[in-house]
Amino acid sequence: MSDSDLIGAAREARRRAYAPFSHFKVGAAIEASDGTIVTGCNIENASYGLTMCAERVAIFKALSEGHRRFRRIAIVTGAVSPTPPCGACLQVLWEFGGDLEVILANLRRETGRHRLSELLPRPFDARSLR
Ligand code: THU
Repeated sequence: MSDSDLIGAAREARRRAYAPFSHFKVGAAIEASDGTIVTGCNIENASYGLTMCAERVAIFKALSEGHRRFRRIAIVTGAVSPTPPCGACLQVLWEFGGDLEVILANLRRETGRHRLSELLPRPFDARSLR
């Protein structure tokens, strides 16, 4: 799948976001190592802290379906400026994604492209537990 198709899948997932409190809709599409694409959107809750980000919905769905390694994730928001994943999502992506490619986009264009290690340069991970 091309980068623009992956962005398209994230944009489509964003339409299913449940964001009545922030009105900030996010869509994500993650590509597993076998090429499978799994999407997610943010899901808010009246108890705000229970909200789940689009990136974690996507990777948790993929993990629950048996995928363990990932290549790329595309994230789409409605913001003009680039919107990288929040710290919690970076941490979860690092656990399973390794140094995956993070493609950022809004509804009009790609807004950024990073390696996960660039966004989370000093990660806490299993090696830290030794
Ligand atoms: N959100 C995400 O879905 N992904 C992020 O990485 C940052 C924030 C969601 C959570 C909440 O529903 C809304 O965006 C505003 O923070």
